[in-house]
Amino acid sequence: MTSARVSLRPLASPMQKLTIRPETVADFAAIGEVNQLAFGRDDEARLVDALRAGAFTRLSLVAEFAGQIVGHIFFSDLPIVGVDKTVAALALAPIAVLPEFQKRGIGSELVRTGLDRCRADGQRIVMVLGDPHFYSRFGFSAAMTARLQSIYAGEAFMALELTPGALDGVAGRVEYPPPFSELSA
Ligand SMILES: CC(C)(COP(=O)(O)OP(=O)(O)OC[C@H]1O[C@@H](n2cnc3c(N)ncnc32)[C@H](O)[C@@H]1OP(=O)(O)O)[C@@H](O)C(=O)NCCC(=O)NCCS
Repeated sequence: MTSARVSLRPLASPMQKLTIRPETVADFAAIGEVNQLAFGRDDEARLVDALRAGAFTRLSLVAEFAGQIVGHIFFSDLPIVGVDKTVAALALAPIAVLPEFQKRGIGSELVRTGLDRCRADGQRIVMVLGDPHFYSRFGFSAAMTARLQSIYAGEAFMALELTPGALDGVAGRVEYPPPFSELSA
């Protein structure tokens, strides 16, 4: 998979570029640190490690700036289990940007690049649990989850169709992989 180089809103030097690329083994420690510092606790870093260990990774991208990992986004399987059929879908979780690099567009770039790559990979549905103010700009909406049952139901539980109509007629229970049940609320 190739990496994408994109311009960044105000940072130290306009010559420096943000690179969004897939994680490598060499990034694991830095990814843990980004999640720990962004969330101010260890839970999300441990979630990423557990999802990786359980082979639930579908896409894990890092944002690299001047040789430093400053952001991270993770997508894992989140099937929708209906009465007649199970529909493949993804969870976007977690996403983290180092506190001193936040509000410069890095998180948005991670989401956009991540969604583009998931779509290119043939994925059709992505779900997220988060703040509607941040995620609605990418097209996520709580209304899309009206026929989905989740332990995280509510305004913060949102879905996005990567292919228009992907959620048409889809109903069922969203099944988070076991590592999510160990995450604190
Ligand atoms: C959420 C996060 C990844 C966004 O990264 P970022 O690089 O700051 O995002 P961008 O610069 O692209 O976008 C900033 C926008 O997101 C909003 N935003 C930032 N953090 C937010 C948060 N935790 N919840 C809701 N909105 C948030 C900002 O208010 C800003 O909105 P605006 O464009 O209307 O001013 C980053 O703030 C972060 O790591 N937060 C801590 C971890 C976290 O809460 N992760 C998300 C869990 S769902």
